[in-house]
Amino acid sequence: MAAVGIDAMEIWTGKLVLDLPNTFAPVKDEAPAKYTKGLGLTGSSLPDVYEDIVTMGANACKRLMERKGLTPNDIGRIDVATESSFDRSKPASTYIAGCLEQVFDGDFSHTNKGERKFACLSGTQAIDDACNWIRAGRHRGRGALVVVTDTALYERDDPGEATQGAGAVAIYITETPSVVALSREQGIGSKDETDFLKPNQQFPSVDGKRSIGVYLDRVREALHDYESVAGRIHKADVAFLPFHTPFPGMVRKAALMTYRHLIDGTDEANALRELVGEAPDADAFDDAEAYKKARYDHQKAIRKTPLYREWYEATVQPTLSLSRRTGNWYTGSVHIARASALLEAAQHDVDIAGQRMLVGSYGSGAQAEMHTETVCPGWHAEIDALTIVEQLDARYDLSFDEYERVHQAHTYDVEVAVEPFTTPNNEFVFSGYGAMGERQYAYVSA
Ligand code: HMG
Repeated sequence: MAAVGIDAMEIWTGKLVLDLPNTFAPVKDEAPAKYTKGLGLTGSSLPDVYEDIVTMGANACKRLMERKGLTPNDIGRIDVATESSFDRSKPASTYIAGCLEQVFDGDFSHTNKGERKFACLSGTQAIDDACNWIRAGRHRGRGALVVVTDTALYERDDPGEATQGAGAVAIYITETPSVVALSREQGIGSKDETDFLKPNQQFPSVDGKRSIGVYLDRVREALHDYESVAGRIHKADVAFLPFHTPFPGMVRKAALMTYRHLIDGTDEANALRELVGEAPDADAFDDAEAYKKARYDHQKAIRKTPLYREWYEATVQPTLSLSRRTGNWYTGSVHIARASALLEAAQHDVDIAGQRMLVGSYGSGAQAEMHTETVCPGWHAEIDALTIVEQLDARYDLSFDEYERVHQAHTYDVEVAVEPFTTPNNEFVFSGYGAMGERQYAYVSA
């Protein structure tokens, strides 16, 4: 069967930005470098008061459908992946379809709709479901819309507040993909974990430091599982490494682990050993802290080698340019990383058609998924159509006081009237509650 994969995507950012080094850090009495260098972030996108997961998702879908000339009849599935759902029964995809029916001729009466949940991983799972639906021949020539959309807010003063974000990516899956074709092979690393969860609550309970180790463990397992079906994968096989990016510093850690695996058993591994010595052996240490320090120093030494730096600059750095500015979009983060790599390649006019990316998705709770994607010949035109850089440039820059009010406006159990900071312009907006408590939406023309 022909390749199945991503034919088009559109990205919609929340229209506000919290500047982390310049606005957030001073109030927290922290060094700006903790954000720019440590976490690798300059800002977090946040939703204006009339935005939510439905408006951001619907706005991304509308733009995608218009650009691709699609009508509701062309779309056989709409799956929303989110961990910011406000309705425990009615899926966000029905709200989004309702929005789209306000502006497109026809309706989604014969479109299968649902909502997927597994923390940040579920967008990748929804893409997998869509690909399998097409491979099974149940799509009747239609494509599938996967909408990853989240408002990633933490409780005020939680350490996670440094890694917030909000935005949506609409991803169109077909049997004639223009952007990337997905490998059939996939690897899974999965374990019942209690590191980040929202048991009947809006904001996450999170053990931030532990969540970092859990992420690395699951990604390592998924990589091994991927290789058990697809065979060994080497450094030369991978043009880009788009990984789930809660903050770029997390990917810096995952990339080092992945690099060491990709070069394992090769001349490059020997060359690296010559430069930085063997990795410290835990059994040789009586003291856990001393071992941790030796491991940290060894990793730092690898990061400084030209071998590693060259690989990182070419393979990982390009995946982070958007997320530095957006913060964590939960389900959207890995899809932002893919878009970022392709945007960087397009900007530098590098033709990457036929090259492969190793895509690592992750969701707390916890599960990682690994697969590869082959870039399709039509990728450049699709990526040139994205407007995300202009959208990020146009965000309203919040003062700290304004940020506090926006956070309150999006907190379910706080009732506060906050005026919008931006003016809606040809887009869907949240317009209030209906008689049954349903959220309602309107399309606002300029
Ligand atoms: P924190 O306590 O705010 O920050 O927690 P920190 O003190 O650990 O500093 C962060 C980094 O900045 C460190 O780098 C510091 O050294 C460095 P590292 O040592 O780790 O490489 N740093 C500096 N660097 C330069 N100059 C300075 C400076 N100061 C410090 N002056 C934490 C950070 C991420 C834990 C917190 O923000 C948090 O809890 N975030 C939420 C949880 C999270 O994002 N976890 C990531 C893995 S789990 C995941 O990805 C899933 C998730 O997306 C949810 C889902 O799946 O649904 C979260």
